[in-house]
Parts: sequence; C-alpha cells; structure tokens
Amino acid sequence: MNDKYQNVLITGGAGRLGRYLYTEFKEQGYQVSLFDQKAPSEQPFPWEMPRGTMFIRGDLTNLGDMMRAITLSRATLVVHVAAITHSTDMQPGRGFPQMLPEDTTMRVNVMGTYVVLDACRRLGVKKVVFASSYYAIGVGGMINRAKPFEVKYLPIDEEHPLFNQDTYGLSKQLGEIMLEAYSRAYGIKCVAFRLMGVSYPGIRPIGTDEKLPEAPRDWKGGPIGTTFQYSDCRDIAYAMRLAADQDLDNDYECFFHSSDTTFRGPTAPAIKLLYPDLALLADGIEGEDGLCSSKKLKTLLGYESKFSWKKDLAATE
Ligand SMILES: NC(=O)c1ccc[n+]([C@@H]2O[C@H](COP(=O)([O-])OP(=O)(O)OC[C@H]3O[C@@H](n4cnc5c(N)ncnc54)[C@H](O)[C@@H]3O)[C@@H](O)[C@H]2O)c1
Repeated sequence: MNDKYQNVLITGGAGRLGRYLYTEFKEQGYQVSLFDQKAPSEQPFPWEMPRGTMFIRGDLTNLGDMMRAITLSRATLVVHVAAITHSTDMQPGRGFPQMLPEDTTMRVNVMGTYVVLDACRRLGVKKVVFASSYYAIGVGGMINRAKPFEVKYLPIDEEHPLFNQDTYGLSKQLGEIMLEAYSRAYGIKCVAFRLMGVSYPGIRPIGTDEKLPEAPRDWKGGPIGTTFQYSDCRDIAYAMRLAADQDLDNDYECFFHSSDTTFRGPTAPAIKLLYPDLALLADGIEGEDGLCSSKKLKTLLGYESKFSWKKDLAATE
C-alpha cells in the first residue's frame, strides 16, 4: 500500500466491479469507503457489505454529495467507476431493459466525472483512477456504418486515433480528456483504464458461445462492438490497485486493460475471416494477444493477467 493514499473512496463502489475493487483494496490494507446512489443490497447483482464498511449514499452529479463523501471518507485517492454503462439515447436492447431519459449517459458520465474531479481539486485529493472503456476509441455503437472505425495499425495502442460515434464511448473519451486537463492544471495524478467487456467469475462472458460467421461480414473497415477481448473483474481490481500503489512519472496516463486470453482463440485468423481489409495488419498479432494492446500497462505498472474465463469455466464444469 502507498501510505499517501491510505484512504480510498470508490464511486460506484456498490456496483458489480465495485465489489471486486472493495476486496482488492481492503486486502492490501487500504481503508475503503463506498459511494453510490444504491447500496450493495439494492443492486441488480446484490452483495453483502462487510460490517463496519463506510457506505455514503449520494448522486455523482451533485458536488455537495461528492464533497461530503470525500470529507467523510478522508480520501486522498478516488477510484471512480460510477457510470451509466450504455448509451441511453439508443434503443434499449438486450441487457438494457430500463428506459432512462435520453440524455442520461452524457449527463451522468460527463457531469459526474467533472464533479468528481472538481471535488477532488477542492479537497486536495491526490490521485484519481478512472474506469474508461475500450468504447472510448469508437468501436462501440456504430451509428453511421458508412464511416466505420478506421484501424490505422494493429495492435491498437493508447496513441491510436479515436473515432467515436455513440454517447457512451464519447462520455468516456470526454472523461479521459477531463482527467488529463485536471492533472495538468492541479497536479492531481490521474490514471484512466480502458476496460474491455468485464467478465465475472462463474458467468460465461457474452460472445463466447457464438460461432464465427463462415463468410466475412458485409461492411468494410474495422471491428464493431467487440475486439474479442475481455477484462476479468479481479484483473481490473489488481491493475487499479497497482495504479494506486505506484506513482508514475507522468501526471496523466491512460492504459488499455485486458485479460490475457480472448473469446475466440488466436486473434490473427479471426481478424482475417471477419475483417479481410485488416488481414495484413493483423499479421503482427501473436497468439491470443488482442486487437488492443495491454503492453503499456504491463511495462509501466508491471501488470500481469492472473485470471481467465476459460479456466474458471473448466473449474465449474
Ligand atoms: N461492464 C462492462 O463490461 C464494462 C466495460 C468497460 C467499462 N466499464 C466501466 O466500468 C465501470 C463499472 O461498471 P459495472 O459493470 O460495475 O457497472 P455497474 O452498473 O454495476 O456499476 C456502476 C455503479 O454506478 C452507480 N451509479 C450510476 N449513476 C450514479 C449516480 N448518478 N450517482 C451515484 N452512483 C451512480 C450505480 O448505482 C452502480 O452501482 C463503469 O464506469 C463502466 O462504464 C464496464
């Protein structure tokens, strides 16, 4: 544990990922408090909060709520994962049964991240770790299919241009930009993690049981919706804790995060089949290394993936 950041506040800490962040930080000796609008017992995936845990109920977009939470928890580190996890302006589909007002994604994610950063500035919080998404690069909701995600090179790293179309991806991109600006202006150390689709122990991740189509898809360009990668929730918690423990040279860093195996087996053959335009670029991808590379995370933070959905599944079958 880094003594400077002993008290950590996790926004969205009662949610699915929050539960695993809580465990990781607690086990490493941090004093952990949770901030959320819903308690763990009220969540779609409810869990029991250990006795004595400080839970602060509040709205992410309310500066007073956020300042109260930071003050009560005495946090010098905020792990910010609270968010609306889809685009509320697009038609609700599988997994999104609740119809929220169309502007909710932008209002909560953009205003919420601004409020977190502004409360941190006012109260002297030293570090913010943020759950961004691989959707921030523009492979999420494709609204104009005539302008697909433009793969400039493979594997995609943190320097690759972004081509957003949907509000969820855009809200994460704007979150990253705000983190960078606040680190520049106020010296708050900020670390953004572009997470892949998150997998949880004992649950087969979406996409793993679908067969590869026999014929290439009928659009040109790059991937839409998936890169065949995933981030195990325990690997994420571990990586975010590494980011809390270590002070990096730059005040702002952004990392792709993924676990080490893909949904689809070796990446290059899958790319050649699905996205023939990218066949030559994919040649450089070894084995199950993904379309998006976690190399920077491994190099700068010493991250190694420890979990795999295949191993989990084998253990339960
Ligand atoms: N689940 C994935 O596949 C995935 C992929 C990439 C990135 N992410 C990001 O990871 C983070 C965690 O996702 P999760 O799967 O745990 O989602 P989740 O919905 O379980 O957790 C989000 C939490 O934020 C809280 N929240 C939402 N709006 C709030 C508000 N206005 N005020 C206070 N709390 C509010 C919710 O109550 C919830 O507990 C999110 O930022 C998400 O965008 C998730």
